[in-house]
Amino acid sequence: MAIQWFPGHMHLTKKAISERIKEIDVVIELLDARLPGSSANPMLAELTGGKPALKVLNKQDLADPARTPAWLDHYNSQPATRAIELDASATTPARRLIDACHALAPTRGSMVKPMRVLICGIPNVGKSTLINTLTGKRAAKTGDEAGITKLEQRIVLADGFYLWDTPGMLWPRIIVAKSGYNLAASGAIGRNAFNEEEVALELLDYLIQHYPAALQARYKVELPPGITDEQLLEAIGRKRGAVLGKGRINLQKAAEIVIHEFRASTLGRITLETPQEFAGWLAAGQLL
Ligand code: G4P
Repeated sequence: MAIQWFPGHMHLTKKAISERIKEIDVVIELLDARLPGSSANPMLAELTGGKPALKVLNKQDLADPARTPAWLDHYNSQPATRAIELDASATTPARRLIDACHALAPTRGSMVKPMRVLICGIPNVGKSTLINTLTGKRAAKTGDEAGITKLEQRIVLADGFYLWDTPGMLWPRIIVAKSGYNLAASGAIGRNAFNEEEVALELLDYLIQHYPAALQARYKVELPPGITDEQLLEAIGRKRGAVLGKGRINLQKAAEIVIHEFRASTLGRITLETPQEFAGWLAAGQLL
């Protein structure tokens, strides 16, 4: 069953963006470097009317370093777009974000013509962490719980450099089934909105194909050719003592272990999609 995750504050955010966008020079979209395609909002380009875009692949420290360059190339080849990778908590790399904005809007950034930047991203992608790092202080979160919408904030990053944080959240519309699973695995979706066993099985299916060595190293399990995600989940449950009695495996517990360890990067640095794969999912028309 596909994950149904419906926009919460989308209409509010949409309105706020369309009102603000005329005065914006650069739109920063924070993406999760482990799932850049799935964590992007497919409506953003339309909402921001072709304004220069900076794609920030955040949590790059958790993503597969062999795959991030392909995503950076993918975005850098798009018009009026630049992409950088980032670990939102690291101070020096965060300065690169300011430099990238200047490259996208070279005439802005003075007191007379300030740089006006809008930042958006899905829940849990690291927006608060990045803003805190950039401002050097502990700012309040910007409405990260359903039902809470705080006022739009303007943050002064430097003289002549203003950042507007979107109120509410810019929830993406999930347009392919696989994106729903990847978003759930990453922690972007509230746990009540998905079935952990289903998400863990999808995750294992991908890891068997693309990261078998990471699975073997972490779970000390055999991966004979043709092993299925169900068989692997059972094997992991058995190894970790997730047993219900009479040898039955507690698949729910095993699923929680797998998801938790992916999120914590105990399994290693993993990226759940390549630009080609994501394009293929879109083309295959697995639209929800
Ligand atoms: P949000 O405002 O977009 O909702 O996200 P927030 O900054 O709250 O970050 C969500 C989680 O992601 C936090 O972890 C945060 O520490 C972590 N995070 C943000 N950016 C990065 C990054 O670049 N790399 C890594 N490895 N983690 C990042 P948490 O477990 O929810 O909280 P805590 O660890 O801060 O206690």
